[in-house]
Amino acid sequence: MPEEKPTLDHEHLPTKLGTEFIIKFHRLLKGTTIYDRKNVIIGRLTQECLGVINGIIQSEGNLFLKIVRDNFFFNNIRIIVRADNYPIFKAFWQEMRKRWIGDIEFSEEVNGEHLKDLVYLLSGVEENNESNYLYVKKQLEYRGIESIQVGKLEFFKDEDIYIDSEDQKKYSKEVYFKSIGLVKEVVESINNQKALNIRKAKRLMQNVVNAIMQDDSTLLGLANIKNYDDYTFNHSVNVAIYAIALGQRIGVPKKRLSHLGMAGLFHDMGKTRIPKEILNKTGKLTPEEWAMMRSHPVIGTELIMRMKEWGELSTRMIQGAFEHHLRYDLTGYPRLTRKIKITLFGRIIAIADFYDALVRPRVYNRFPYVSEKILGIMLERSGKDFDPAIVKVFINMIGIYPLGTLVLLNTNEMGLVTQIQEDTELIDRPKVCLLYYGDGEYRKGKVVDLRETDQVTGDFKRSIVKTLDPNEYNMNVAEFLI
Ligand SMILES: [Fe+2]
Ligand SMILES: [Fe+2]
Repeated sequence: MPEEKPTLDHEHLPTKLGTEFIIKFHRLLKGTTIYDRKNVIIGRLTQECLGVINGIIQSEGNLFLKIVRDNFFFNNIRIIVRADNYPIFKAFWQEMRKRWIGDIEFSEEVNGEHLKDLVYLLSGVEENNESNYLYVKKQLEYRGIESIQVGKLEFFKDEDIYIDSEDQKKYSKEVYFKSIGLVKEVVESINNQKALNIRKAKRLMQNVVNAIMQDDSTLLGLANIKNYDDYTFNHSVNVAIYAIALGQRIGVPKKRLSHLGMAGLFHDMGKTRIPKEILNKTGKLTPEEWAMMRSHPVIGTELIMRMKEWGELSTRMIQGAFEHHLRYDLTGYPRLTRKIKITLFGRIIAIADFYDALVRPRVYNRFPYVSEKILGIMLERSGKDFDPAIVKVFINMIGIYPLGTLVLLNTNEMGLVTQIQEDTELIDRPKVCLLYYGDGEYRKGKVVDLRETDQVTGDFKRSIVKTLDPNEYNMNVAEFLI
């Protein structure tokens, strides 16, 4: 039998990119201790390193290298160090450690002079000075270099970073709640006219993208089971999650996925300007109130246009805010005086928004529509309200029993949907975690696959009879899923 080839390089992109960067960067850093800035060798090493950095920025949108203990993380994913690269990693680790520099980030493409500034600054700092990172930061600021950031080496802190798949869930959970925090922050900063931390927002959305690309089940699960306290904030984050997961499935490049996430996150920004009494009104809205409600896409667009800090992102965000109620056939709102073609982002966000708004109705209606019904409505309106091709992908993604759905089985067992089958034919046969009642509470049992058949009869061992409302069982579904 032929020996199995190591396929790591192809499979694990963060490792590949992170390794390339470290090798080139380390070489350049070492060069600075021997040659001066104008030396031709430095010129060559700079160009080589630049090629890697800017290539990564183009494909990933960001380059964030972080050292935690003796691990390296590339865009928050741990780099698997190959044996033959170990000496370089070790040497680089020592260089960084003695300078107390724990992370380096490039948020935009850089030029050679800026990169040289960074490496000469790094190589010039004192050894074992904890505040080196502050000095480098300040110096970069003085030189007007905003696209490069450095951070302090933290010896024992590794929040933010999770290594294995169990931890991946924690990571997903954390980015979910951080995203909610971010939306709150942005809304506050608009209300108080404070400046926004764009870098943080961008990085957070990149984390969401990373988490979804590795395993979208946790985040989709979270989107499906959120609590009701902060409907608006949860809704924003959910729309971002559905949009990213959907975008990934229809092949939106990774760099643009985080933009899509931002557009999803802020699609309802205009609602911050609508009085709470109208937003939360349980009775029928008057025509004036309706008009007010319907103005939120235009208000949102104006708010985004005023946020100059967002730069190139604002075009994307406007697509989300302005187009999400227009409908595929343009019969929605705002009414347009001329025909436009709704952008891809607008079409994706419209679907994500509609689904999340129905599955989690407003305060007055705690019992959500079952997913099956909503997907049915969406299919019916496909081609009119929604882009038919994207609706199809969306329905497959959600399944008729979405993650986190509480179900009753024909065996009289209760369970939670924990994994949806890839195969469309088996959309009603997800994996389910059985729940048992004992000692006054529900406990997690084993996970069963509803595709399993009885070997003798050939019948399915278990099937879903109906969905149940967790509220009726006083159950917090989130506890079991995350
Ligand atoms: Fe909206
Ligand atoms: Fe919305």
